[in-house]
Amino acid sequence: MKIEELPSYESLGLPVERDGLEQFDHLQAYRRLGPIYRLQFRGEEHVVIGGMDANEAAWRNPDLWSYEDALVPFREMMGPTHVTQLDREVHRRKRRNLRNGFAMSALVRHLETLDRVLATEFAAHAGRPIRLHDFLMTALTLANSRTVLHCELDAEALRHFVVFEEEFIQGISMGEARHAHYGRPGFVEHREYVFGFLRQLVERRLGGETQPDNFQEMLEDRRERGEPLDAGELVPEAYLLLMAGTGNTAKMLNCGLQNLWEDPAWLGVLEEELAGYSASGLMSGMGRFPRLKATLMEMERMFPAAPVMSRVVHEAFEFGGYELPKGTRVLHLQTLPHFLEEVYEEPYRFRPARWLEREYPKKAHGTFGGSTHICLGMNLVRLHGPVVVGNLVRDYRLELRGEGKIEVNLNYGVPQVADLEAVWTPRSDNGNLAVTTTDALSVAGRSGQNPTASLRH
Ligand code: HEM
Repeated sequence: MKIEELPSYESLGLPVERDGLEQFDHLQAYRRLGPIYRLQFRGEEHVVIGGMDANEAAWRNPDLWSYEDALVPFREMMGPTHVTQLDREVHRRKRRNLRNGFAMSALVRHLETLDRVLATEFAAHAGRPIRLHDFLMTALTLANSRTVLHCELDAEALRHFVVFEEEFIQGISMGEARHAHYGRPGFVEHREYVFGFLRQLVERRLGGETQPDNFQEMLEDRRERGEPLDAGELVPEAYLLLMAGTGNTAKMLNCGLQNLWEDPAWLGVLEEELAGYSASGLMSGMGRFPRLKATLMEMERMFPAAPVMSRVVHEAFEFGGYELPKGTRVLHLQTLPHFLEEVYEEPYRFRPARWLEREYPKKAHGTFGGSTHICLGMNLVRLHGPVVVGNLVRDYRLELRGEGKIEVNLNYGVPQVADLEAVWTPRSDNGNLAVTTTDALSVAGRSGQNPTASLRH
């Protein structure tokens, strides 16, 4: 059948906005219309696909899609060689070139350093209120600068990087309004700082400087395989190593920690396990920390930072009995199965133990997407998460203020509020509180920006 014959979301009379923001009830639409329907979204006709079969169809063959057409803002900001918006052979080659930066084997060797940096940052900020999202983004970027991309980031540099990342990601979902957003003098200043910093770093490396980091491994691997080394291409790659996606990781942890601390029974059993937490214990994987793994899987399930993917069809294909021609704009609800009762019992309940009781199919977990475009930073997230939660639960009592209960968000383009204020205090009072780089940033004071609108990177 032709897509013109698809039932439409609008025919159901379901909400399209709440509190002045776009807000759709895709779960109900899926129940009533099935895994494929039409939707008017930002003035354009879209086909919405969701559910386990949709994930399978979307991930089975990545060449069905044009990432180039769907992800224009990434190209505009990061340049024509940026991985997110490449397709087919050029994309596969790029992912091959990035492997030495992001493979688990390339990351895990930094675990002890990562743990040390985060432990120091937690200690440095203990005992006083702090904006958790900002703290996490800043501390994770600092950790990256001591592990995967060695460089000196002082408080000013960290501030430029964090604000640039947040505002860049915010703009991606703004449609044409992004041009004005990115044209604001404040943003231009951050952008110029970030790109100036990274360009100098890349030029030093191309000029012969070496560092024991993943960027170096990427450069050497490419030299050995006769791949060209071009500064214009390496600058966005350095950005990927240093801070891409930290806002998404921070958001997931914000929401997840709020739920974890509201579940004293589970927190108690997790504390027991994490009394024995150490980075060296993580070196061989999560096998020694099954409850920690289950906790993070539940955070990934309930708070996927990029719940919906905007896509454009490149090769016509059929789904659910409908022919999707080339050029069709699609919203792929890749995390919809996370909230289906028939897949995850009591889906709106934060219940990490579910992950200890049974296994779930791969196509039911859409947090990082799938196939060849699967999130490049997934392994990084899966190290950052355990180290953050491991340190926090083992060493501190946590109090969270600010937002009420953070709601699960299945929307496209609507920021999920996750701006919590946190105070953590040492379990033992002999914590020796050092002062470190992010201290000077006075993260707690910077509440003016909206740190919640992460979509992708
Ligand atoms: C909880 C945190 C994160 C979430 C939920 C997340 C989610 C996603 C999703 C859903 C995609 C789209 C995959 C697809 O097209 O099917 C993606 C792609 C991507 N992510 Fe993440 N991400 C996170 C953190 C990170 C981090 C820390 C990095 C750092 C490098 C990163 C880098 C990327 C890149 C470069 C892509 C594009 C990959 C490609 O097109 O080949 N992400 N991410």
